[in-house]
Amino acid sequence: MADDSSHTATQPAMHPSFLRVLNQKKEIKEKLSGIKHKIGIYSAKGGVGKTTVAVNLAFALKSLGYKVGLLDADVDTPNLNLFLGIRGTVEANYPLKPIDKDGVKVLSTAMFVDEETKPIIWRGPMIGKMIGEFFGNTEWGELDYLILDLSPGTSDAPLSIMQLLDMDGFILVTTPQRIAAVNAIRSGRMIKRMGISIIGVLENMSDGSAKGGKEVAEALECELLGTINENREIGELSDEGVVPVLANSSFMDQFVSIARRFSGS
Ligand SMILES: Nc1ncnc2c1ncn2[C@@H]1O[C@H](COP(=O)(O)OP(=O)(O)O)[C@@H](O)[C@H]1O
Ligand SMILES: [Mg+2]
Repeated sequence: MADDSSHTATQPAMHPSFLRVLNQKKEIKEKLSGIKHKIGIYSAKGGVGKTTVAVNLAFALKSLGYKVGLLDADVDTPNLNLFLGIRGTVEANYPLKPIDKDGVKVLSTAMFVDEETKPIIWRGPMIGKMIGEFFGNTEWGELDYLILDLSPGTSDAPLSIMQLLDMDGFILVTTPQRIAAVNAIRSGRMIKRMGISIIGVLENMSDGSAKGGKEVAEALECELLGTINENREIGELSDEGVVPVLANSSFMDQFVSIARRFSGS
């Protein structure tokens, strides 16, 4: 029988970039060790309500008594500031510090950009580097939940988050439209391939029948967490930088019922 040393000698060396990702992942894990659960809000399709869900779910979790952080993981088209009515910039000194918005800790790349409509134009490697540096160097302190608002697509930004951040799981957002369901299923397959769990699917802009949500839940064998009705007020309030669940108790009830489904409270 070959001894251990001869076996080790024949092992192929790890590719340096793979080693770098492993080391970076370990470092980030240590830095974010005060966070109990990291949950991504995701769909490969834009415009389905990822940011809306991330913001309102964060405040619904807060209303249940949890300590919550909200991270704009849509690094190139960050929208959290607009949804939360946050204006002005903060100093980009490491370690970065999230700002407090009505009891929820918030961080977005937009906080470091002096002009609202200035484009952030980055190629893939820069996005990966930014995600590692930005997210690995933030002092969140103790949190029960960090909610991450992801960008659409299935490449650089979502991929870096799945690779680097040791996520607890993802909530997929879909709508009654078939095109949204197809893309949510695509997104779920990516999450599974990365070895991460799907917490469940949520149908936004719903008419209450949850046809799209059921299709996604069935295809991915995951839970349907619930529905959020289509309501023009949600769009109008968000445009004004007002968090819908803080302005209307019926919106709060819908998001709290979803938060209860996965938080166990
Ligand atoms: N349930 C809803 N009812 C009405 N409008 C909504 C609802 N959810 C989201 N919206 C609006 O739809 C648009 C897209 O939502 P957004 O959260 O930015 O999607 P994404 O982050 O997936 O691109 C926004 O203008 C938002 O205010
Ligand atoms: Mg968004």
